[in-house]
Amino acid sequence: MTPQAVAQAQLDAYNAHDVDGLCALYADGACQYRHPDILLAQGRQAIRRRYAERFAGSSPRAQLLQRIVSGNTVVDSERVHDGASYTELLAIYEVMNGQIAKAWFRNGATTQLRVARHEDIPVMEALIARSGIELSKGFYSEEQAAAVTKHVFGVDTQLVEDATYFIIERDGEALACGGWSKRATLFGGDRHKSGPDPLLDPATQPGRIRAFFVDPSAPRQGLGTMLMQHCEREALAQGFQLLELAATMPGVPLYKAAGFESVEDFALTLPGDVSVPLARMRKLLSGC
Ligand SMILES: CC(C)(COP(=O)(O)OP(=O)(O)OC[C@H]1O[C@@H](n2cnc3c(N)ncnc32)[C@H](O)[C@@H]1OP(=O)(O)O)[C@@H](O)C(=O)NCCC(=O)NCCS
Repeated sequence: MTPQAVAQAQLDAYNAHDVDGLCALYADGACQYRHPDILLAQGRQAIRRRYAERFAGSSPRAQLLQRIVSGNTVVDSERVHDGASYTELLAIYEVMNGQIAKAWFRNGATTQLRVARHEDIPVMEALIARSGIELSKGFYSEEQAAAVTKHVFGVDTQLVEDATYFIIERDGEALACGGWSKRATLFGGDRHKSGPDPLLDPATQPGRIRAFFVDPSAPRQGLGTMLMQHCEREALAQGFQLLELAATMPGVPLYKAAGFESVEDFALTLPGDVSVPLARMRKLLSGC
């Protein structure tokens, strides 16, 4: 096998959680290191123990981002997904006679999705304000972005109470927030709401996707998609078959990419007589 084929077989066996398959790709006396020189395991038995422990408590999945091959060395840049988080990983394999003789691993940042708490609200409000202004560029005029950010965007604390609003942090820094709802309100933060917010019937009514915001420092890194996949799984688990949302124009490309379809265009008239177009969108869930 070429070094490239060995690295690919390693990745496939890792994703299949196939400890025997992984061990067969390592030479008898192979060594694994935390880059540059901390020995993690020496010899097949020690490598077997490491992988058996890794797969005992979780089901990680490595996503290959980039691979460089130079002679008998392969360098893989990966994202290792584990539950609602992923870690950047650099893996370097030295291949001899069709087997891995040495491997070095270097962990990068961890991106973690978790349930938002009340104490996160000030951080999320600040993130939402930055996101609403900066990431609306090219979709709304400055006046529209300012009006919708001021009068509509914000945290709906009911979702925080329901534990259906989430925050994504990278090494502890908040980078995105968003959620879903089992209640009737379709959009808007606390200051846009008034009156009770009744529960929906999952058997007959669509659940809501609510208030997705990504920090302007981290657009197009898949954070919106990460939130969406998590919300869809949770809504489905609670019996909802259909999801509905009110999309801002900057939100429409993400929601289309996630499989939502527009069912109605409408506009909000905000103070100062500013008209802001939105789209009502829907998606049928099917066992994601
Ligand atoms: C909408 C928003 C949450 C998207 O978050 P994101 O993390 O950048 O989205 P993702 O990286 O998961 O994008 C997934 C896909 O959606 C589409 N997409 C997302 N943003 C896009 C944009 N600005 N232009 C074109 N396509 C876009 C792309 O197909 C993208 O895949 P790609 O990057 O591989 O091409 C973010 O732009 C945002 O916070 N906007 C301002 C606030 C807002 O209006 N929120 C919506 C409220 S309803």
